[in-house]
Amino acid sequence: MEPNFWHNRWQTNQTGWHESSVNPLLIAHFPSLNLPPGKRVFVPFCGKSLDLGWLLSQGYTVAGAELSELAVTQLFGQLGMKARILEIGKHKHFRGEKIDIFVGNLFDLSREILGLVDAVYDRAALVALPEAMRVQYTAHLKAITTFAPQLVIGYEYDQTMAPGPPFSVTPDELHRHYSDDYTLTPLARIDVPGGLKGKCPATEHVWRLDKRRSE
Ligand SMILES: C[S@@+](CC[C@H](N)C(=O)[O-])C[C@H]1O[C@@H](n2cnc3c(N)ncnc32)[C@H](O)[C@@H]1O
Repeated sequence: MEPNFWHNRWQTNQTGWHESSVNPLLIAHFPSLNLPPGKRVFVPFCGKSLDLGWLLSQGYTVAGAELSELAVTQLFGQLGMKARILEIGKHKHFRGEKIDIFVGNLFDLSREILGLVDAVYDRAALVALPEAMRVQYTAHLKAITTFAPQLVIGYEYDQTMAPGPPFSVTPDELHRHYSDDYTLTPLARIDVPGGLKGKCPATEHVWRLDKRRSE
Protein backbone atom coordinates (compact mmCIF):
# COMPACT_ATOMS: atom_id res chain seq x y z
CA MET A 1 0.00 0.00 0.00
CA GLU A 2 1.46 3.30 -1.02
CA PRO A 3 1.51 6.34 1.31
CA ASN A 4 -1.40 8.05 -0.47
CA PHE A 5 -3.69 5.12 0.30
CA TRP A 6 -3.10 5.64 4.03
CA HIS A 7 -3.18 9.44 3.96
CA ASN A 8 -6.54 9.20 2.23
CA ARG A 9 -7.83 6.76 4.88
CA TRP A 10 -6.88 9.17 7.68
CA GLN A 11 -8.24 12.24 5.87
CA THR A 12 -11.59 10.55 5.20
CA ASN A 13 -11.76 8.96 8.66
CA GLN A 14 -11.82 5.39 7.29
CA THR A 15 -9.77 3.91 10.09
CA GLY A 16 -11.65 0.69 10.78
CA TRP A 17 -8.49 -0.91 12.22
CA HIS A 18 -8.42 1.56 15.12
CA GLU A 19 -9.62 -0.03 18.36
CA SER A 20 -11.53 1.93 21.00
CA SER A 21 -9.77 0.15 23.86
CA VAL A 22 -6.34 -1.31 24.53
CA ASN A 23 -5.83 -4.57 22.60
CA PRO A 24 -6.50 -7.39 25.12
CA LEU A 25 -3.92 -9.60 23.36
CA LEU A 26 -1.25 -6.98 24.11
CA ILE A 27 -2.19 -6.97 27.79
CA ALA A 28 -2.30 -10.78 27.91
CA HIS A 29 0.90 -11.52 25.96
CA PHE A 30 3.32 -8.60 26.22
CA PRO A 31 4.51 -9.89 29.64
CA SER A 32 5.81 -12.98 27.81
CA LEU A 33 8.66 -10.82 26.44
CA ASN A 34 9.92 -10.38 30.03
CA LEU A 35 10.87 -6.79 29.33
CA PRO A 36 11.67 -4.77 32.45
CA PRO A 37 10.06 -1.31 32.86
CA GLY A 38 12.30 1.47 31.55
CA LYS A 39 13.06 -0.39 28.31
CA ARG A 40 12.17 1.12 24.93
CA VAL A 41 9.40 -0.43 22.79
CA PHE A 42 9.12 0.41 19.09
CA VAL A 43 5.66 0.39 17.51
CA PRO A 44 5.94 0.46 13.69
CA PHE A 45 2.84 1.83 11.89
CA CYS A 46 1.48 3.04 15.24
CA GLY A 47 -1.51 5.07 14.05
CA LYS A 48 -3.19 6.59 17.09
CA SER A 49 -3.39 3.27 18.90
CA LEU A 50 -4.38 3.33 22.58
CA ASP A 51 -1.82 0.54 23.01
CA LEU A 52 0.93 3.20 23.17
CA GLY A 53 -0.67 4.73 26.29
CA TRP A 54 -0.86 1.27 27.84
CA LEU A 55 2.86 0.64 27.16
CA LEU A 56 3.69 4.00 28.78
CA SER A 57 1.49 3.10 31.78
CA GLN A 58 3.57 -0.07 32.23
CA GLY A 59 6.71 2.03 32.65
CA TYR A 60 8.13 1.60 29.14
CA THR A 61 9.56 4.27 26.90
CA VAL A 62 7.81 4.22 23.53
CA ALA A 63 8.96 4.97 19.99
CA GLY A 64 6.58 4.88 17.04
CA ALA A 65 6.63 5.37 13.29
CA GLU A 66 3.58 6.62 11.41
CA LEU A 67 2.98 8.19 7.99
CA SER A 68 0.07 10.36 9.00
CA GLU A 69 0.67 13.57 10.94
CA LEU A 70 -3.10 13.75 11.46
CA ALA A 71 -2.99 10.43 13.31
CA VAL A 72 -0.04 11.51 15.43
CA THR A 73 -1.64 14.84 16.36
CA GLN A 74 -4.72 12.90 17.51
CA LEU A 75 -2.49 10.44 19.38
CA PHE A 76 -0.84 13.20 21.41
CA GLY A 77 -4.29 14.73 22.08
CA GLN A 78 -5.49 11.37 23.42
CA LEU A 79 -2.41 11.04 25.61
CA GLY A 80 -3.03 14.57 26.95
CA MET A 81 0.49 15.56 25.87
CA LYS A 82 1.85 18.49 23.96
CA ALA A 83 4.49 17.37 21.49
CA ARG A 84 7.73 19.18 20.75
CA ILE A 85 8.16 18.91 17.00
CA LEU A 86 11.60 18.69 15.40
CA GLU A 87 12.67 17.99 11.83
CA ILE A 88 15.05 15.05 11.51
CA GLY A 89 16.12 13.66 8.13
CA LYS A 90 12.94 12.99 6.13
CA HIS A 91 10.88 12.76 9.33
CA LYS A 92 9.09 15.02 11.75
CA HIS A 93 9.96 13.93 15.26
CA PHE A 94 7.08 14.39 17.74
CA ARG A 95 8.57 14.30 21.23
CA GLY A 96 6.64 13.90 24.46
CA GLU A 97 7.53 12.60 27.89
CA LYS A 98 9.01 9.11 27.34
CA ILE A 99 7.62 8.98 23.80
CA ASP A 100 9.11 9.67 20.35
CA ILE A 101 6.99 9.37 17.23
CA PHE A 102 8.67 9.64 13.82
CA VAL A 103 6.18 10.95 11.28
CA GLY A 104 7.03 9.87 7.75
CA ASN A 105 7.74 6.70 5.81
CA LEU A 106 9.12 3.85 7.93
CA PHE A 107 11.26 2.80 4.96
CA ASP A 108 13.13 6.11 5.28
CA LEU A 109 13.76 5.70 9.01
CA SER A 110 17.34 4.75 9.91
CA ARG A 111 18.67 2.93 12.94
CA GLU A 112 20.58 6.08 13.90
CA ILE A 113 17.47 8.27 13.91
CA LEU A 114 15.26 5.68 15.60
CA GLY A 115 17.77 4.99 18.37
CA LEU A 116 18.03 1.96 20.63
CA VAL A 117 15.08 -0.44 20.61
CA ASP A 118 14.59 -3.19 23.21
CA ALA A 119 11.42 -4.73 21.77
CA VAL A 120 8.99 -4.33 18.88
CA TYR A 121 5.19 -4.41 19.10
CA ASP A 122 3.70 -5.11 15.66
CA ARG A 123 -0.08 -5.00 15.68
CA ALA A 124 -1.59 -4.77 12.20
CA ALA A 125 1.67 -3.49 10.69
CA LEU A 126 3.03 -6.50 8.77
CA VAL A 127 -0.52 -7.41 7.72
CA ALA A 128 -1.14 -3.85 6.49
CA LEU A 129 1.17 -4.49 3.53
CA PRO A 130 0.91 -6.59 0.33
CA GLU A 131 3.32 -9.51 0.01
CA ALA A 132 6.19 -7.83 -1.85
CA MET A 133 6.23 -4.95 0.63
CA ARG A 134 6.17 -7.39 3.54
CA VAL A 135 9.56 -8.70 2.42
CA GLN A 136 10.92 -5.16 2.38
CA TYR A 137 9.25 -4.32 5.73
CA THR A 138 10.59 -7.31 7.66
CA ALA A 139 14.14 -6.81 6.34
CA HIS A 140 14.08 -3.10 7.21
CA LEU A 141 12.51 -3.68 10.63
CA LYS A 142 15.22 -6.21 11.53
CA ALA A 143 17.93 -3.80 10.40
CA ILE A 144 16.70 -0.70 12.25
CA THR A 145 15.93 -2.55 15.49
CA THR A 146 19.00 -4.82 15.38
CA PHE A 147 16.82 -7.92 15.74
CA ALA A 148 15.02 -6.78 18.90
CA PRO A 149 12.46 -9.33 20.15
CA GLN A 150 8.93 -8.84 18.87
CA LEU A 151 5.30 -9.39 19.78
CA VAL A 152 3.41 -9.77 16.49
CA ILE A 153 -0.40 -9.69 16.22
CA GLY A 154 -1.92 -10.35 12.79
CA TYR A 155 -4.52 -12.22 10.80
CA GLU A 156 -4.92 -15.39 8.75
CA TYR A 157 -7.80 -16.05 6.37
CA ASP A 158 -8.43 -17.27 2.82
CA GLN A 159 -6.88 -14.43 0.78
CA THR A 160 -9.01 -15.38 -2.25
CA MET A 161 -12.15 -14.45 -0.28
CA ALA A 162 -11.22 -10.84 0.47
CA PRO A 163 -8.58 -8.33 -0.60
CA GLY A 164 -6.35 -6.71 2.02
CA PRO A 165 -5.58 -4.77 4.01
CA PRO A 166 -5.43 -6.39 6.42
CA PHE A 167 -3.69 -9.13 4.44
CA SER A 168 -3.48 -12.73 5.52
CA VAL A 169 -0.07 -13.80 6.82
CA THR A 170 0.29 -17.54 7.38
CA PRO A 171 2.65 -19.14 9.91
CA ASP A 172 4.72 -20.41 6.93
CA GLU A 173 5.16 -16.90 5.64
CA LEU A 174 6.05 -15.54 9.08
CA HIS A 175 8.73 -18.23 9.30
CA ARG A 176 10.05 -17.31 5.85
CA HIS A 177 10.56 -13.71 6.94
CA TYR A 178 11.91 -14.32 10.39
CA SER A 179 13.11 -17.84 11.19
CA ASP A 180 16.71 -17.31 10.02
CA ASP A 181 17.13 -14.72 12.76
CA TYR A 182 14.48 -15.47 15.38
CA THR A 183 12.88 -18.34 17.23
CA LEU A 184 9.14 -18.04 16.66
CA THR A 185 6.71 -19.02 19.42
CA PRO A 186 2.96 -19.07 18.75
CA LEU A 187 1.18 -17.60 21.80
CA ALA A 188 -2.49 -17.51 20.79
CA ARG A 189 -4.95 -18.13 17.95
CA ILE A 190 -8.43 -16.65 18.22
CA ASP A 191 -11.39 -16.83 15.84
CA VAL A 192 -12.32 -13.29 14.80
CA PRO A 193 -16.00 -12.81 15.80
CA GLY A 194 -18.02 -12.34 12.59
CA GLY A 195 -14.94 -13.16 10.48
CA LEU A 196 -12.99 -10.69 8.37
CA LYS A 197 -15.31 -7.73 7.76
CA GLY A 198 -18.16 -10.28 7.60
CA LYS A 199 -16.67 -11.77 4.38
CA CYS A 200 -14.92 -14.94 5.52
CA PRO A 201 -13.74 -16.76 8.66
CA ALA A 202 -10.50 -15.35 10.05
CA THR A 203 -8.08 -16.09 12.86
CA GLU A 204 -6.16 -13.50 14.83
CA HIS A 205 -2.74 -14.78 15.87
CA VAL A 206 -0.10 -13.72 18.37
CA TRP A 207 3.58 -14.64 18.05
CA ARG A 208 6.67 -13.96 20.10
CA LEU A 209 9.94 -13.64 18.18
CA ASP A 210 13.20 -14.04 20.10
CA LYS A 211 16.55 -13.41 18.47
CA ARG A 212 18.41 -16.63 17.80
CA ARG A 213 21.57 -16.99 19.82
CA SER A 214 24.70 -17.06 17.66
CA GLU A 215 26.41 -20.46 17.71
C1 LIG B 1 -3.67 -0.97 9.79
S1 LIG B 1 -3.10 0.52 10.49
C2 LIG B 1 -2.55 -0.05 12.09
C3 LIG B 1 -2.33 1.07 13.10
C4 LIG B 1 -1.99 0.63 14.51
N1 LIG B 1 -0.89 -0.31 14.57
C5 LIG B 1 -3.21 0.09 15.24
O1 LIG B 1 -3.15 -1.05 15.68
O2 LIG B 1 -4.19 0.84 15.38
C6 LIG B 1 -1.58 0.81 9.60
C7 LIG B 1 -0.97 2.16 9.88
O3 LIG B 1 0.31 2.21 9.28
C8 LIG B 1 0.52 3.48 8.72
N2 LIG B 1 1.52 3.25 7.63
C9 LIG B 1 1.31 2.55 6.49
N3 LIG B 1 2.44 2.50 5.74
C10 LIG B 1 3.39 3.18 6.44
C11 LIG B 1 4.77 3.49 6.18
N4 LIG B 1 5.38 3.07 5.08
N5 LIG B 1 5.45 4.19 7.12
C12 LIG B 1 4.84 4.60 8.27
N6 LIG B 1 3.52 4.34 8.56
C13 LIG B 1 2.81 3.64 7.67
C14 LIG B 1 -0.85 3.93 8.24
O4 LIG B 1 -0.97 5.33 8.12
C15 LIG B 1 -1.75 3.36 9.33
O5 LIG B 1 -1.96 4.28 10.36
